[in-house]
Amino acid sequence: MTTTTAAPTTGAPVIGAGVTRVDGPLKVTGAVPYADDLAPRDALVGVLVGATITSGRVELVDTTDALAAPGVVAVLSHHDAPRVVRPDEASSDERAPLPPFQDAVVRFRGDYVAMVVAQTREEALHAADLLHVTYDVDEPVVDINDPRADREDDDPAGADSVRGDLERGLAEAEVVVDADYVTGDNTNNPIGLFAASAEWDGDALHMWATTQWPFNVADCLAEAWGIPREDVRVECPYLGGGFGSGLRPWPYIHAAAMAAKVVDRPVRVVLSRPQMFTGVGHRPETVQHVRLGARRDGTLTAVEHTATIPVAVDDDNPENVVSGTRQGYAVEHLRADVDQVRLHISPPGSMRAPGEAQGNFALETALDELAVELGIDPVELRLRNEAVTNPDQDDLPWSSKALDECLRRGAELIGWDERDPSPRATREGDQLIGYGMAAVSFFYFQEPCTVRVVVRRDGSAAVHCAAMDIGTGTYTIVTQVAAERLGLEVGDVEVVLGDSSLPASPPAGGSGLATAISNAVALATSAVLADLELSGAPGREALARAVGDRDEVTAEATADKPDPAELGMSPSGAFGAKFAKVRVDADLGLVRVERLVSVIDCGQVLNERTARSQVVGGTVGGIGHALLEHTVTDLHAGPQTGRITNAHLADYLMAVNADVPDLEVEFVGGPDRLNPVGVKGVGEVGLCGVAAAIGNAVFNATGRRIRRLPITPDLLL
Ligand code: MOS
Repeated sequence: MTTTTAAPTTGAPVIGAGVTRVDGPLKVTGAVPYADDLAPRDALVGVLVGATITSGRVELVDTTDALAAPGVVAVLSHHDAPRVVRPDEASSDERAPLPPFQDAVVRFRGDYVAMVVAQTREEALHAADLLHVTYDVDEPVVDINDPRADREDDDPAGADSVRGDLERGLAEAEVVVDADYVTGDNTNNPIGLFAASAEWDGDALHMWATTQWPFNVADCLAEAWGIPREDVRVECPYLGGGFGSGLRPWPYIHAAAMAAKVVDRPVRVVLSRPQMFTGVGHRPETVQHVRLGARRDGTLTAVEHTATIPVAVDDDNPENVVSGTRQGYAVEHLRADVDQVRLHISPPGSMRAPGEAQGNFALETALDELAVELGIDPVELRLRNEAVTNPDQDDLPWSSKALDECLRRGAELIGWDERDPSPRATREGDQLIGYGMAAVSFFYFQEPCTVRVVVRRDGSAAVHCAAMDIGTGTYTIVTQVAAERLGLEVGDVEVVLGDSSLPASPPAGGSGLATAISNAVALATSAVLADLELSGAPGREALARAVGDRDEVTAEATADKPDPAELGMSPSGAFGAKFAKVRVDADLGLVRVERLVSVIDCGQVLNERTARSQVVGGTVGGIGHALLEHTVTDLHAGPQTGRITNAHLADYLMAVNADVPDLEVEFVGGPDRLNPVGVKGVGEVGLCGVAAAIGNAVFNATGRRIRRLPITPDLLL
């Protein structure tokens, strides 16, 4: 292994070009193997059964009728399921989600109480109806505002921060904005239902599971079962959408492994759509408070941002709602704080820009309110307070930052000059027209990643890594970086991902994989070229000559997490500016997004086509976040308390084609100087800022300040 700096490339400029997805033909012909497609042919089918109470204990799971039903092989419950150890998430102190069936406690509605294993799904579903489950019912706490809920100031993800003296900063202010913001609970809702299959060979476990992090799932299963890590293999070469819901080793994965152990046959489990609302995480709601102090000239003197988020019983979820605020603007006096409230809800998890999505809405709405108070243009207000160095990291210089260019170019593209700053001033018939904007400073995330490069006798190459492609184009960018570094054609590089038996990788998440893996590829290609005594980007013939009569030559390298102090700079995440133009029906309160401009600084664009596609996808999610998406929990006292009332795609509204205009995306800035490839993540910056830009445009159109997501028509009447 090596961690030396990769040599600069001299090959054909494959990077940056809009190379089409290397997995495109597989995707469009339906040939892509998703987790459930890889299930062993002889697998039995498991169906999970969720609790119909929200808090309490299971008294008895009576299996008599279910076991007598046709095709049924077994029923698992806390009475007799295998006992496993609760694992930690890899590379963090967080507890992984609780494995199912380990005790009688019901922690939320839908918590698994049993699994029926049968020959077919129909037989398993039928038998699940014949289970008789009795409960001892406790009174649940499901409302974030319920005073009975346990409140914990436990600083999730190191969110809390104090700089300077907030009270002094507020005393220096000539204008103060002080407001509360609320964002609703959202559900990730990938179209592909999550699936897991398990097969035991003695004490060795092989699984095919929907996950954004096969390496971690394998670690967690090894820990759970107390078996050697090399005896566990988890594969997930593709998945049908994740948006963060595949980041954790969720209980359904354990359930498949337990069932396969009990029946001594392969078992496959596919979640139902309602189970996707309670079984694979969700974006927690937030209650936020922002205080901004400023001088008349727009200089910020104080920023306070506090947030309360719910967390499930016996669970951890690092949701950093204030990270964007901490590094967003140059302000001397700051207090940021996240508290958690423990509720009888299903475990929240990451969802598309976790924490940032909610926090950015509050901060960037408050800044718009401040701009109105001061009579300063909102773009100008942000430029005046630009953080030229990172105030959250000892004022180290950024490794790259083109936020000012994002702001100026975005204003130009949307035609910001045409905007009348007075609210409710622009009208066409019954349509009120408004413009709004928001800035985004996304956090930097890079974890160690190892890659193996194989150069074959014919001069072609292969790249191996346990990382998976969440659908953003990882196969494609890895192919490009390897091809460029080796001087090969795209078609001469094979990329193998999504298998925990390959070299260690971080998750496909946190907008961090492209940085981690592309730099690992750069290092590993340098290492293999050194072994072959080649330099530059030698091309296929030179590679073949150097390999000679060996079958292949391989090298591995790890790209480590950079150390800011050692580098003397602050590793930068992506920056972005979002500009929205909306039309609001004055009589109906319906908001239509007419234009949405995103200008993004993500460092070196590895692939214009897939990077743009990520920003477009993120923006669609942002429009949903702003106007539509809301997982609604029944808060009324009574037997239905804690039930999600819209746990299916008919009532959970998401942005579809009719809600989304032709989105405009532009990239600015250049290669980041932190790493040889110059790349920063681009995944989640696409969603961030969209909700605030739309909300601010709604204010400009209507004069109504909505401090709540989603912004639904009833709030505008
Ligand atoms: Mo992302 S929410 O880190 O998959």
